[in-house]
Amino acid sequence: MSLDTLTQLIYLMSTALFILSLKWMNHPSTARRAVVCGVVAMVAAVGGTLINPGIVTYTWIVAAIMVGFLLGVPLSWVPLTAVPQRTALSHAFGGLAAGLVGAAEYYLWIHEGKEIGSFEAGALVAEVILGFLTFTGSLMAAGKLQEIIPTRPITYKNQNALNFSLLAVALLAGAWLVIAPTHWALFPLIILLSLAFGVLLIIPIGGADMPTVIALLNAYAGLSAVAMGFVLDNKLLIAAGALDGSSGLILSIIMCRAMNRSFANVLFGAFGQVQAASHAVEQRSVKSASAEDAAQIMAAARSVVVIPGYGMAVAQAQHRVRELFEVLTAEGVDVKFAIHPVAGRMPGHMNVLLAEAEIPYDKLIEMEAINPEMPEVDVALVVGANDVVNPAARHDKSSPIFGMPIIDADKAKTVFVIKRSMNPGFAGIENELFYGDNTLMLFGDAKAMLTSVVQALKESP
Ligand code: TAP
Repeated sequence: MSLDTLTQLIYLMSTALFILSLKWMNHPSTARRAVVCGVVAMVAAVGGTLINPGIVTYTWIVAAIMVGFLLGVPLSWVPLTAVPQRTALSHAFGGLAAGLVGAAEYYLWIHEGKEIGSFEAGALVAEVILGFLTFTGSLMAAGKLQEIIPTRPITYKNQNALNFSLLAVALLAGAWLVIAPTHWALFPLIILLSLAFGVLLIIPIGGADMPTVIALLNAYAGLSAVAMGFVLDNKLLIAAGALDGSSGLILSIIMCRAMNRSFANVLFGAFGQVQAASHAVEQRSVKSASAEDAAQIMAAARSVVVIPGYGMAVAQAQHRVRELFEVLTAEGVDVKFAIHPVAGRMPGHMNVLLAEAEIPYDKLIEMEAINPEMPEVDVALVVGANDVVNPAARHDKSSPIFGMPIIDADKAKTVFVIKRSMNPGFAGIENELFYGDNTLMLFGDAKAMLTSVVQALKESP
């Protein structure tokens, strides 16, 4: 068997492993296997490429691998809350690699006087535009999430028109290059315009929308890899890039749907801009309770549904939630966890935190499955969630979150809400749940409040 045939066989195996890895990612119980499978697929893919007889020198490759390790290992040490920006950095590197490979390939073709076909030139232009705009776009997204650059949307007049004109010029230059591939002077222009477009695309988007944008940039990086696969005639890159591109796109669609927002609204809506506070809100009063009150009512309940949100992540209260689960379960209370798809700030945020605290997977119930049960539930315990339990989403057409599916916490017999103040959540709006007849507020940091509740439960006779 020739080395080339062996490489193609390894590529085929890697593609199958990548697909299995994505499939196993679908459930927490198989997620670990999925990660191992993905790593094996990637190592095999790199190994299969390294045995390619076309490789001229290994020196630069080894040097690049060492630099990759030096940058990659510290990147893996970031805390869970910084995973979105870490992911954005990975996309930035992926985009840069695709863009640089495209640029190198183009100048090599020109240097060797190779005849460039329109398909090759088209794929190359797509690779370079997507690669470089992903690079700067992802760097901006990481910067916003890390708050190195202002997280608020930066907007100015005719912004979208300017951005699209820029992209249109890049695409026109690209089309020209496809028709006349030897016009090499167009190439730096396309690169510069793509780099600028990446920055300008992200500037008007608020920091809190970055997770959705990152999923979209993931899709761009994947498409750029597909184009690179066509340029290099590498089938594995085409398959892996297509998997990456489509999964990024599907993820961003799921996130937009769960927030009842369109792509256009996320990309061009400048959501999260500071808005003047509404004075029309009538003065209503809320009822607050103590940790002891909450412990007493929960101990007497048959069922408790915990609804975690961003505040649980901020407070790192997942281990206290686990203690509460254990104490209540020991008392014979049925405890479940209601998971909203966009609770927190990144996909699967709540699942990851609860898994870290070793809450059994079968206790995590998705929104659609838990909602029909909510009217029968004795206690809904909202831990640092706000928008995802706001009933205005069901009926208030003027609300920015109108139409967003929510967890029906308000339908439970008693609702406890743990949060520090009456401050709004991500959407910046009031939550009528807090004023409900059956709602009691537990004001305080989620971790401290849950510690007190657990303490009170343990001390109760
Ligand atoms: P939010 O609506 O953002 O509310 C979080 C609440 O947590 C705040 O009201 C805050 O109130 C409270 N909180 C903060 N720190 C706390 C602490 N230490 N202890 C106790 N409470 C604390 O959260 P949510 O209900 O999870 O909704 C998520 C929002 O993010 C949605 O609007 C969603 O559309 C958006 N979003 C989600 C994603 C993904 S992928 N998950 C991506 C982009 C946007 P206090 O300040 O009063 O404590």
